[in-house]
Amino acid sequence: MTAGHGEFAFGAGLHARGLHKRFGGVQAVRDISFDVPHGGVFAIIGPNGAGKSTLLNLMSGLHQPDEPAAGLNAAEVERLAERFRILRERGITLVLVEHNMDLVMQVADRVLVMDYGEHLFEGAPAEVQTHPAVIAAYLGGG
Ligand SMILES: Nc1ncnc2c1ncn2[C@@H]1O[C@H](COP(=O)(O)OP(=O)(O)O)[C@@H](O)[C@H]1O
Ligand SMILES: [Mg+2]
Repeated sequence: MTAGHGEFAFGAGLHARGLHKRFGGVQAVRDISFDVPHGGVFAIIGPNGAGKSTLLNLMSGLHQPDEPAAGLNAAEVERLAERFRILRERGITLVLVEHNMDLVMQVADRVLVMDYGEHLFEGAPAEVQTHPAVIAAYLGGG
């Protein structure tokens, strides 16, 4: 399946290669590639304007729970995290775009960090939290 510029394949997991999307002078998504293994929680994070929503819109064949924790209190986020864990135990693959770092760090197996449309870093939650470029992007991006 093709979506915009780039390519997706759904099979044993989800594979995206060379995704691009431009709005006029803004390169919203630039050469993003990733692999989501079947079963598990893959989170896409990044400062405002990083290109997360555009990336999900490129993946328009998927249902997208877009920033599901927006507006929830701590207890509600905890219940949401529990639901994600249940889904994962059932072998369901989730792609999650989320600003709530507590939730991402609790439930994600892998985290893709975007900044200015680009692939900044991908790794396990613990690696993401301590990566200097990720910390700098969040401090500088507002
Ligand atoms: N429909 C659109 N038209 C023009 N620019 C857009 C449009 N959608 C997003 N953008 C721009 O693309 C960039 C990425 O936006 P977006 O994907 O919404 O980022 P995020 O979801 O990470 O906050 C931003 O600079 C935003 O202003
Ligand atoms: Mg968004």
